[in-house]
Amino acid sequence: MYQFDISAGTKAELYRDLSAALDALTADERDAIANMANAAALVWEYLPDLNWAGFYRLVDDELVLGPFQGKAACIRIALGKGVCGTAAQTRETQRVEDVHAFPGHIACDAASRSELVVPVVHDGRLIGVLDLDSPEPARFDREDAAACEALMAILAPRIA
Ligand code: SME
Repeated sequence: MYQFDISAGTKAELYRDLSAALDALTADERDAIANMANAAALVWEYLPDLNWAGFYRLVDDELVLGPFQGKAACIRIALGKGVCGTAAQTRETQRVEDVHAFPGHIACDAASRSELVVPVVHDGRLIGVLDLDSPEPARFDREDAAACEALMAILAPRIA
């Protein structure tokens, strides 16, 4: 059993503790799926107001559903399609305050109102994306985006 001391204080403290937990949990494990699974579980447990948290992996130039928490989701997403495909194609974090206003948004869970997708890149190679969905509009701010990018910087070499 793993127990983490995750702060219930400020958002900065929450992400600081989450980073430390992710680092500790994945440092000695080389299996990419295991590390993605634990990363999804950590984020799901400690970030409030999520209805989906997980990964899509780049496989043969297409995003394929990876380890996640939440409702069963669409399995394959073409590059450039939806929020995930846009993040993968541009390699830029997509922070969507209202998914209904995002052209081509792919609705996997009708409850989703806002979304954050962070590309995971290692040594110049796109490995996949982290996808977070929330039932709250505008759930993710710039601090969430920067902090999740930092989390993926820790994880990227461990899922490459
Ligand atoms: N909404 C995403 C699809 C993945 S699900 O949210 C899990 C998109 O538009 O790419």
